[in-house]
Amino acid sequence: MQSIIITGGAGFIGSHVVRLFVNKYPNYRIINVDKLTYAGNLANLEDIENAQNYRFVRADICDFDAMCALMWEEKVTGIIHLAAESHVDRSIKDPFTFARTNVMGTLSLLQAARLCWESLPEKYEGKRFYHISTDEVYGDLEITHPEGIKSPFADMAAPSGHNLAYGTDFFLESTPYDPHSPYSAAKAASDHFVRAFHDTYGMPTIVTNCSNNYGPYQFPEKLIPLFINNIRKRIPLPVYGKGENVRDWLYVEDHARAIDLIFHSGEVGETYNIGGFNEWKNIDLIKVIIATVDRLLGNPEGHSLDLITFVTDRAGHDLRYAIDSRKLQKELGWEPSLQFEEGIERTVRWYLDNQEWMDRITSGDYERYYEEMYNKR
Ligand code: NAD
Ligand code: TYD
Repeated sequence: MQSIIITGGAGFIGSHVVRLFVNKYPNYRIINVDKLTYAGNLANLEDIENAQNYRFVRADICDFDAMCALMWEEKVTGIIHLAAESHVDRSIKDPFTFARTNVMGTLSLLQAARLCWESLPEKYEGKRFYHISTDEVYGDLEITHPEGIKSPFADMAAPSGHNLAYGTDFFLESTPYDPHSPYSAAKAASDHFVRAFHDTYGMPTIVTNCSNNYGPYQFPEKLIPLFINNIRKRIPLPVYGKGENVRDWLYVEDHARAIDLIFHSGEVGETYNIGGFNEWKNIDLIKVIIATVDRLLGNPEGHSLDLITFVTDRAGHDLRYAIDSRKLQKELGWEPSLQFEEGIERTVRWYLDNQEWMDRITSGDYERYYEEMYNKR
C-alpha cells in the first residue's frame, strides 16, 4: 500500500500524472497537493475527482508546517514533485516568485519528508522522493545544421516524417548545469537541493530532466495552446525573434508514463533525461499547427499563415534544446510511443473540442470561476 503526494497535480503535466496513478493503482492513495495558482485548474481532473483513492489538498508547498502535518496524517511513502512556477516569460518579469516556489518550496518538501521519514523505525525503507525537472537547467546547444540533419536517434523516436536534428550535441545526464533564465536557474537550484539531500542525509531521491511537453490541459501562455487558440480567434501569433529556436517536443502522456516507470523502477540517487528525440524549429512547428488547425476548422490551406507576426526576441532566449534519453531507454526500456504528427493532431483536436475549457481561462473570469468551484467543495 503506497500513499503518494503528487504536488502540482492541478497543473498541466501534474494532472496527467494524477489521472494515470489514480486509474492505474486503485490500491494506492493519491494526494494531490496544489496551491491553485493561476496555472492550477481543478477542471483538469473532473473525471477522477470522486475516485475513492484520490484526495485534493489545497496548500502551498512553501508552508513547511502544512507539509509536515500532511506527511504524518497520510503516512506518506512517496512524493512526486511537480509543483513549480513554470513559464520562462513570467520568470523574466518576476524572478522572486520563481525562487520562492521552485527553490524554497522544494526545500520545504524535502525537509518535511526527511523529518517524517527519519523518525520512523523503518526510516527511508520503501520511501521515494521523485523530483521532476527540466532540460533547461543544462543551458542551450548550438545550431550547427540550420537545415537539419537526420537525427542520430531517429530509430528511437516514434517514426515520423520529420526526425531531424539541428546540431550534433545533445544534453546528457552528465552535462554541466548552465541555466540562463530565472526559471531554469530556480529549477537548477532545486535539483541541487534534492541531490544534496541524497548525499547528505541518504534520502532516496530521483531527479528527471524532461524536454518540452505538449498535449491537452496546458495553460495557454505556452506556445502550442496559445497559438491554437489565437488561430481559432484570428489573433496574431507572436513569434519571438526569427522563429529559429529549436525545442525537443514530447507528448505529455509519454512523460507521465516515464514518470510512472521511473518512480517504480528507477535507481535511487540517479538522474534520467526524458526527451522525444523530436526537434523542431519554432517556425516549422508553427506552420504545422497552422495547417492542422486550418484543416480541422475547414479553412482553405494557408488561410492563417498571415497571422504569423515576428516580435522582439525573448531576453536570453535559449537557442536549442535536444535531449539524449538513451540511458532511460537502455536501463528501463522507455521510449516515446506517439508519433509526433499524431500527437499534434490529437492536441489540436482536443483544444478545438474543449473550447469552453480554454474560454474560461482566457475570458478573465478564471480566478472567480475556480474560487467558486473550490468553495463548493
Ligand atoms: P504548470 O504551470 O502547468 O503547473 C504547475 C502547478 O503547480 C499548478 O497547478 C500550480 O497551481 C502549482 N503550484 C505552483 N506553485 C505552487 C506552490 N507554491 N504550492 C503548491 N502548488 C503550486 O506546470 P507544468 O508545465 O505542468 O510543469 C510541471 C513540472 O514539470 C514543473 O516542475 C516544470 O518545471 C516541469 N517541466 C515542465 C515541462 C513542460 O514542458 N511544461 C518540461 C519539463 C519539466
Ligand atoms: P514555451 O512554450 O514558452 O516553452 P519554453 O520557453 O520553456 O521552451 O516556448 C516554446 C518556444 O516558443 C520558445 O523558443 C519560445 C517560443 N515562443 C514564441 O515564439 N512565442 C510565444 O508567444 C511563446 C509563448 C513562445
